[in-house]
Amino acid sequence: MASTGLEARLKKMAEYLDTEAIAAALKLPVETVSDILDGKAEIETVPAGKPAAPAVVQVNSARVAFRQRVIAVWRAKGGVGCTAVALYLAWLLKDMLRVLLIDLNLDAGGSDLSYYLGLPEYPHLGGAGYGLETSLINVQDGFYVLQAPRRADEIKIPKGMITGIINAARPAFDVIIMDLPNNTEEHVIEAVSNATTMVFVTAGGEQELLRIALKIVEFNKEENLLVANGGKIGAGAAREIGVDKVVSIPWDGGLQKVLEGNGRPQKGSPFMEGVEALRDILYERTGQKGGILKKLFLR
Ligand SMILES: Nc1ncnc2c1ncn2[C@@H]1O[C@H](COP(=O)(O)OP(=O)(O)OP(=O)(O)O)[C@@H](O)[C@H]1O
Ligand SMILES: [Mg+2]
Repeated sequence: MASTGLEARLKKMAEYLDTEAIAAALKLPVETVSDILDGKAEIETVPAGKPAAPAVVQVNSARVAFRQRVIAVWRAKGGVGCTAVALYLAWLLKDMLRVLLIDLNLDAGGSDLSYYLGLPEYPHLGGAGYGLETSLINVQDGFYVLQAPRRADEIKIPKGMITGIINAARPAFDVIIMDLPNNTEEHVIEAVSNATTMVFVTAGGEQELLRIALKIVEFNKEENLLVANGGKIGAGAAREIGVDKVVSIPWDGGLQKVLEGNGRPQKGSPFMEGVEALRDILYERTGQKGGILKKLFLR
């Protein structure tokens, strides 16, 4: 592999920083950074197309390009926008990652996700025990859905089934997003125990926030984000609840019409902009200012 500017810069940074810190500073996946440092990645500089455009450094790493996440979108109250957040997040991420969205709302009397996307009745979760591939619906390039059955009595989820599904999905997807119901049934707890990342959706009620705070303590996950849907929550309250970050999604008068008309998530809508902020926090695309890492990178 030819030694490139990127590789040299990484090696220099590695004298001061660990792989995670370098990845954060350069906005690169941790796996890619360690592949480059281990000499396992192929790096090539693609010449600029036009004089004004900078050359692009392409890294072809043997491993997945992003750290894999299993994201549980959960809440402490019904109807707070959980499905809409899960769907819009999946929609945004499909442009950069292979996404599987799993709907675990089993007693909804016709799941809202299937309805919002206008999915056919089959296949659904009920077939997943026999093989994941045949149970998935390919909605768009890079975006697959494992939907809940129309009726709760169509399925019995045995202990271990959700873990089995996630393990089977991990090699094929970069991110798995689960839309969870507002209950603590066994399969929901199993889903949470498999999650790397919790995204709690709230309408901001005090009781809700309290219950979310208790869940954060109980499940003790690595990443806990809070989505204040239709309102704002201060940073102080967020700290008390125990979340790492809060994202506010504004009221979006057009959302219901889009969802109920089987419409696809709209770029530029207030709801989408809120979920873009969530994506940026999860995948570190925020323009973090200054700091030693940035200075090192720019040197
Ligand atoms: N920010 C918002 N602005 C306007 N309407 C919203 C917003 N968030 C959610 N809604 C509306 O609230 C309704 C419920 O949203 P959604 O189905 O995502 O909630 P949920 O938490 O999944 O509900 P359920 O408990 O039924 O699973 C939808 O009609 C949606 O359009
Ligand atoms: Mg829902």
